[in-house]
Amino acid sequence: MSEELRMGVIGCGAMGQAHLQVWESVATVRVAAVCDGNEQRANETAARLDAIAFTSPKAMAESGLLDAVDVCTPSGLHAEQGIVCAQNNLHLLLEKPIDLNIKKVDALIEECEDRGLTLACMLQQRTFPVGQQVKAYIEAGHLGRLLSCSASIKWWRSQNYYSSSAWRGTWEMDGGVLANQGIHTLDMLCWLVGGVDEVEYAHLETANHDIQAEDNALAVLRFENGARGVVEATSCAYPDLCTRIEIVGTNGSVAFDGGNVITFGFGGEDRRGLLQSEVVDVGGGRSNPMAISLQAHTAIAEDFVQSIRERREPLVSGRKARVSLDALTKIYRKAFPNIVLGRE
Ligand SMILES: NC(=O)c1ccc[n+]([C@@H]2O[C@H](COP(=O)([O-])OP(=O)(O)OC[C@H]3O[C@@H](n4cnc5c(N)ncnc54)[C@H](O)[C@@H]3O)[C@@H](O)[C@H]2O)c1
Repeated sequence: MSEELRMGVIGCGAMGQAHLQVWESVATVRVAAVCDGNEQRANETAARLDAIAFTSPKAMAESGLLDAVDVCTPSGLHAEQGIVCAQNNLHLLLEKPIDLNIKKVDALIEECEDRGLTLACMLQQRTFPVGQQVKAYIEAGHLGRLLSCSASIKWWRSQNYYSSSAWRGTWEMDGGVLANQGIHTLDMLCWLVGGVDEVEYAHLETANHDIQAEDNALAVLRFENGARGVVEATSCAYPDLCTRIEIVGTNGSVAFDGGNVITFGFGGEDRRGLLQSEVVDVGGGRSNPMAISLQAHTAIAEDFVQSIRERREPLVSGRKARVSLDALTKIYRKAFPNIVLGRE
């Protein structure tokens, strides 16, 4: 690969445009091609960037114009479009969730590993320095044995938001509030506490919106390390309330509000002073999906490029992103044993 990484972006909708803004700020990347099923959107985006437009992901993947692809299409398409790109030896960054269907994600991980390709996921909250510091303290045992934890995602989405695109809130392409809005916080919880062994209880309902999947969810989890956890996610909270994580261990506890730690202590002492005090700008997102800061997205994008150049695992690899997809899959299976999430 030359000094310049030739990037292709599939999906030029809301997040695709945000990612294109991010790529413009990464010095060694040139967006060489874009792809969208909406031809006019693909053409207009390509013209603006002096890139080549495609309407077919396969044609773009086979074009020979690219080194890597960034997939920003509806969630149920990520893995299958990723596999087509991997079969053409293209490194991959996929928007979150990595996909909805865990079997397809396993096939994608295998394809990328067999070919020595980088596979990363845009779970940008893992770049927060304060989260990385807390994780290091947890792993070093400072909080003791982890007993319990919770993730609360109490957000608002209007019916207009769901009605604005046919894929939103569908089992095949989006899932509900857990898979779309909640995945960042569920992922952060799994990253800090560990993988989920079993879902002991799950109540998911479509309470307040005209959509297929859930807009209100409550689940009780048992983690592989024995800790118990509660996940509450809703897109019905008007006004929106919080994005919160709390973890209790035998020797300490921590609470996050958005990207910031509001409580952190162990051994009977307040230890917030040990952590970076810089406030992390996660943007809103709790009521407006596009009111998000791109700072953390840029950090994931830069790490993706560096991981390709250095032939190392990216900060959020496919395997790492799989952990929270596994938790998500187990929650959905507990609540709806007969529902197929994502495309088979
Ligand atoms: N990381 C974050 O903070 C964040 C925030 C919002 C959305 N997302 C994720 O980004 C993804 C896209 O969400 P969005 O809000 O941009 O959706 P969107 O509907 O605005 O854009 C999706 C685009 O994909 C195109 N598309 C659909 N099917 C296609 C196909 N088969 N081939 C090519 N193009 C196709 C559509 O025409 C559209 O332009 C979702 O997976 C979502 O979960 C991530």
